[in-house]
Amino acid sequence: MTLIDPVLLKSRLGQQAGRFDVDALPECDSTSSELMRRAERGAPAGTVVVADRQHAGRGRRGRSWLSSPEASLTFSLLWRFPGGATRLSGLSLAVGVALARALESLGVAGVRLKWPNDVLLETNGEFAKLAGILIELSSDRRGAQIIVGIGLNLQPPPPGDLPQPAVGLSSAGVDADRHTILAAILAELAGVLDRFGETGFAGLRNAWQAYHAWQGLSVQILGDAQMLCGRCLGVDDDGSLLLETESGVERIISGDVSLRRTGGILGAKTA
Ligand code: ATP
Ligand code: BTN
Repeated sequence: MTLIDPVLLKSRLGQQAGRFDVDALPECDSTSSELMRRAERGAPAGTVVVADRQHAGRGRRGRSWLSSPEASLTFSLLWRFPGGATRLSGLSLAVGVALARALESLGVAGVRLKWPNDVLLETNGEFAKLAGILIELSSDRRGAQIIVGIGLNLQPPPPGDLPQPAVGLSSAGVDADRHTILAAILAELAGVLDRFGETGFAGLRNAWQAYHAWQGLSVQILGDAQMLCGRCLGVDDDGSLLLETESGVERIISGDVSLRRTGGILGAKTA
């Protein structure tokens, strides 16, 4: 018996239930790795793997994602798009919009998005990570296949385990049943991924900006060998970050960098 009952989840999904095929596991290495193996064996779009426990949960760039059965919701969704992977820029931001909308629909106030893949909770001007998004894609002649991995904290992870502040849904005063939470996220994801398939990120850009944590604020971009400072202007139609620097506006395309806030407010916040 797992913490997710697929039958109950199906009833929570209502009319959207037919779009998903959910498997709930007590444990796996990583729901994204498990789903990738199933995708290679031909699993259909809409397949969802949710696990109570991951023993090798992954974040970006080989980082670990910490979770525990009672305190976390960890799952991955398989989706396919016609055409090549080049049309998928901005996808992790689009998924952020779905997650933010779902959390708001559950009553969470203060949901913010941090480029490129974090969902933060803002409380009295302080930001802490509530959820992370990991997108992995591959393509062949049939089109692009994506695995959307989402880790959501229901309770805050133990203090001291993480380099950045983290919170859980409980910190936002929300104590919804995990079936209700997962159904809300999957339903929003289906809508957002449909829209993304039609318009690319451009059709979701304004929605993303409305949740943008650090619009107009002073930030640093940390790469392997470089550091860029500037004012965060938001994102472009392809999801790249726009940074106003002393030498003009820079477009940061790769998500292979880290964004950090540096303190000073250099312009109006529009989020
Ligand atoms: P950036 O994306 O700017 O590099 P980040 O620290 O959010 O910052 P990511 O690679 O996006 O880095 O996310 C992975 C990070 O998430 C890990 O380095 C870890 O610090 C953090 N992390 C792991 N588990 C959790 C969790 N349950 N809640 C919040 N944060 C977590
Ligand atoms: C990040 O913030 O870097 C992304 C974290 C993504 C974590 C989720 S948990 C479910 C899925 N399985 C994984 O191994 N990672 C993602």
